[in-house]
Amino acid sequence: MKVKGFVGGVRKGAKFVGAVLVLAAVVGAAYAFWPRHYPRAYLASTAALQSDGTLAPLARAIGFHIGAAVDITELREFEATAQRDFNSMTPCDALKWGNLLVGGKLGQYDFRQGDELVNLARSKQVRIRGHTLLWGRFPGAGHPSDLKEVVNAAKQPKAKLEQLMTEHIRAVLEHFRGRIDQWDVVNEPMHLWKPLWDDNVFYRTLGPDFVAMAFRTAHAADPSLHLVLNEQFGGYDNERAEKFFEIVQEFVRKGVPIHGIGLQSHTLTSVPELAPLKAYVRRLESLGLFVEITELDARVRLFADSPDPYRAQGEYFRAVSSICLEEPACTGLTVWGISDRYTWMSKFAPFKWMQPLDPLLFDLSMRRKPAYYGVAEALRSARATRHGDANHDRR
Ligand code: XIL
Repeated sequence: MKVKGFVGGVRKGAKFVGAVLVLAAVVGAAYAFWPRHYPRAYLASTAALQSDGTLAPLARAIGFHIGAAVDITELREFEATAQRDFNSMTPCDALKWGNLLVGGKLGQYDFRQGDELVNLARSKQVRIRGHTLLWGRFPGAGHPSDLKEVVNAAKQPKAKLEQLMTEHIRAVLEHFRGRIDQWDVVNEPMHLWKPLWDDNVFYRTLGPDFVAMAFRTAHAADPSLHLVLNEQFGGYDNERAEKFFEIVQEFVRKGVPIHGIGLQSHTLTSVPELAPLKAYVRRLESLGLFVEITELDARVRLFADSPDPYRAQGEYFRAVSSICLEEPACTGLTVWGISDRYTWMSKFAPFKWMQPLDPLLFDLSMRRKPAYYGVAEALRSARATRHGDANHDRR
């Protein structure tokens, strides 16, 4: 009797705790995802009305590249900002392997969309960052949707993948020869958050050698190219960043033709500390590599604790830009989109539920945000330190 009563009590208690946990989860999720509005104090400030001091002339004056990623949906915004604000452009999606193929499957290439973007940029004397020759994470976009199937069905999967990779790299570099001179050869080789390699078709089939293989193939196809390994980090003083550094160091030691590191710099879940970023850039520089910030953006909600989140976001853009501009090895900074209207995050769960995202330099109506002025301020103060720096034209 006593035992029964005790068991019943425990059950009731467990139910109660369960209910409390569910309730806490619901409240937590509502808090995290509920749309919010922050004051757009910047609309009232005189800075928003200023029309001088656009970004690209400031960057050009110091041999720096300030870029935006552009999709076919953002052509109008690109036309308005090319050479005014941006002297570099990265096609968001158009040059990814899966997107270059008819139907997204191995077979025929269709370069039309890539050509349109690349030729438009060139007609405006805007440099292009090629993004990306290999990306293991997304079948269908990053790589052909049937790649895994074709490789696994082959008698010698390793040889097959090596052949497909090599042919692809050669075909793309041949097509864009003389038009694009900096390429992300491999994108996101690491697991999203663990200090491990990403477990994708390339790594599983060929091991870590696939990266060195890709760089060697690209270098042999055109030795004048600046070849970059591009990766996303949430922070720079953790095991994962350390592992990536070791991988890069090993490549350099072995003489793999890797010239630069792309730090994507999407700011998605928390605002990273910036002193470790500076130290990381310096360590990469000590390996003889250049660095670019390749995909910077920052969700405005990450600055919700500030009375003026848009302004705090602007300060963050200034600080990141300053770090890059203060380090001679850091040769360019690209933001991943132009207007908040078209940010990639609005297509991706869970971020798409965390409105407002507003992670870029221009707002939904193409008005300049404090983030824009933050980058401008960093460029302006870099003028004195960068001018005449022989290093800045390395890529
Ligand atoms: C994104 C594009 O912007 C989206 O349009 C697409 O649906 C998915 O990819 N890291 C990268 C970029 O290296 O290629 C990604 O771009 C964003 C995250």
